[in-house]
Amino acid sequence: MKLTKEEQRLFDGEFGEAARQSMEILVALGKIYGAQKMIPITSAQVAGVSYKTIGDAGLEYLQDLAAKGAKTRIPTFLNPAGMDIAQWKEMRVPEEFAKKQIEILDAYSKMGIMKTYTCAPYFIGIRPKKGEHIAWAESSAISFANSVLGARTNREGGPSALAAAICGVTPYYGLHIEENRVAKLVVDVKCELKTISDFSALGCAIGEIAKDRYPAFTGIKTATEEQLKVLGASMAVTGSVPLYFVQGITPEWKVADDAERITITDAELKTTKTKLDTVHGTRDSRPQLVTLGCPHASLNEIKVVADMVSKRKPHCEFWVCASRKLKEESDRLGYTRAIQSAGGRVVADTCMVVCPLEQMGYSVTGTNSGKAAKYLQNLCKQRVAFGDIEDILYR
Ligand code: F3S
Repeated sequence: MKLTKEEQRLFDGEFGEAARQSMEILVALGKIYGAQKMIPITSAQVAGVSYKTIGDAGLEYLQDLAAKGAKTRIPTFLNPAGMDIAQWKEMRVPEEFAKKQIEILDAYSKMGIMKTYTCAPYFIGIRPKKGEHIAWAESSAISFANSVLGARTNREGGPSALAAAICGVTPYYGLHIEENRVAKLVVDVKCELKTISDFSALGCAIGEIAKDRYPAFTGIKTATEEQLKVLGASMAVTGSVPLYFVQGITPEWKVADDAERITITDAELKTTKTKLDTVHGTRDSRPQLVTLGCPHASLNEIKVVADMVSKRKPHCEFWVCASRKLKEESDRLGYTRAIQSAGGRVVADTCMVVCPLEQMGYSVTGTNSGKAAKYLQNLCKQRVAFGDIEDILYR
């Protein structure tokens, strides 16, 4: 692998031990994937922020790196943490968890990372342009950046994104290379797609079929950014899809001549939705808590919920998860007040999956997100009510 003079100096430890260690990680990764060189990146997004997901080993790793003087060279921001920094006590987050979580955030802060705590940085103005090289680590954000914005990122892990942030470069392979951004699966959508849960179910169904191939969708006439966000997030969970195309909507469209072609119908979408709704037809089909905003909600999504619950109070407690920045906007615009008056909360800095939900007294949770539906079962020991917002709030 050919390094520039500056990269070689980083590798040789001239910028300190943390930078040396980081460059070593990037060079090792580059060798594994056959990269010939590094490429400068304009931003990094670091995952592995919640104490629930990284535990004591992760905390020690970060503290060690911070103590060795790790500093980011490019704009770098964080995925959601394990708790809402302002509301964790009233939300019944255990004290010990909160203590460790704060230590993690302190370590990241020492490295100069922005305290964004969101998986949807593109809703708070962090929107790399088409063709821009970045190193992002949150699977749904990777999918959005590659597919909807046309930026270029591989599926980074927490440590590799952090190493890229510290060195300002990433190995040049995979999705950074134009020729590799080709769909090998064409999905002709013959079903009606209206809501977030429709797009989530489509993503869950296609992720399973695509596995690590990039799908190209035909037949989707319109889609909002919120709908594309959940489509990508779901495919990243049931498959490992970091890039997709939607004909006439996303900025890129390149399909291999030998791509497999499939059709998806209303019947298949319905089957996927029923499978995601694990409490369907049982005595517990009413959720104790409904969680919306996976990936984190846009301001418009918060407004839609505020308007809906102002007219009719939901049957259960509910959260709308969003970035701190949008929660503040929501406070200012009166959406938070409307949500609180109806028994809900706008939750910032965290989400239903990476907070210790299973330790906070919940066992049946509702969601309209395919990604949350999968993770609530696997990581939070929840039984899941899946459906449109109205369905799950008023069951
Ligand atoms: Fe974001 Fe949490 Fe979903 S990090 S993508 S809201 S699981």
